[in-house]
Amino acid sequence: MNIKKAIIIGASSGIGKGISLELLNKGYKIAISARRKERLDQIKKLNPDMVIVKEYDSSTEKNDELIKNLIDKLNGVDLVIYCSGIGIINKELDYSLEKKVNNLNVSGFTQVVDYAFNYFLKRGEGHIVNISSVASEIGNGISPSYNASKAYQANYLQGLRFKAYRMKVPIFLTDVRPGFVDTDILMGNKDKLFWVAPLEKACKQIVNAIDRKKRVVYITKRWKIISLLIKTLPERIIRLFF
Ligand SMILES: NC(=O)c1ccc[n+]([C@@H]2O[C@H](COP(=O)([O-])OP(=O)(O)OC[C@H]3O[C@@H](n4cnc5c(N)ncnc54)[C@H](OP(=O)(O)O)[C@@H]3O)[C@@H](O)[C@H]2O)c1
Repeated sequence: MNIKKAIIIGASSGIGKGISLELLNKGYKIAISARRKERLDQIKKLNPDMVIVKEYDSSTEKNDELIKNLIDKLNGVDLVIYCSGIGIINKELDYSLEKKVNNLNVSGFTQVVDYAFNYFLKRGEGHIVNISSVASEIGNGISPSYNASKAYQANYLQGLRFKAYRMKVPIFLTDVRPGFVDTDILMGNKDKLFWVAPLEKACKQIVNAIDRKKRVVYITKRWKIISLLIKTLPERIIRLFF
């Protein structure tokens, strides 16, 4: 039997960990990466032969080395998923904070998907997934770089989808846009938010969308309503919320 192989960047907690567990259950061999190695090792303990662990800070400029290393260790890859991401509240517009967000959400993301795309081009097929956000569709006055970096990711992935189409190669690119999912990124504010999806439910929906090679998916589905409102309502209304 042909075992499917996946790389998940940002797998130590939250959505990345949840997707890793779902893929393991489906029989994938996975290579997982993030900074907190002890958390990655906990996933490896579940099925040591099927999990490769690499401690890595993806905000550095060397993600191409990371992906190459993981592909070598897996002996090829079918699916590359970028789940690493941070958002920082930055009311003072401190540039050093914006840079931190951009290093991971923009530079790290770009290096990973570019390397994966070129690898899949040579291989003739493949699938790249990124977790952007509904936030990609609207600005945010409290953490501007978070929403802007998510807009970059969504737009970049669409660009690569067009590129794959033009080149007539079966490289699939899935843009996952969650609303709120119950993870550490909510910083304990779960009760002040609405439509917060349980982590397991969200990850099952994401893996289902990956199986179906969806182009864009809202997690959970009802967040498409918010997306439509964002696109329809005038800015003088929308600005009251952001
Ligand atoms: N939860 C939500 O409501 C929600 C909504 C929309 C979009 N998203 C997006 O979903 C993605 C996953 O977030 P989450 O909700 O699952 O939050 P999370 O539990 O905080 O997960 C973030 C992941 O990113 C990794 N990461 C952070 N800094 C890193 C770095 N410098 N190098 C490598 N990895 C790094 C973390 O690992 P280490 O700290 O161990 O490095 C962790 O595995 C993010 O892109 C987020 O923007 C989440």
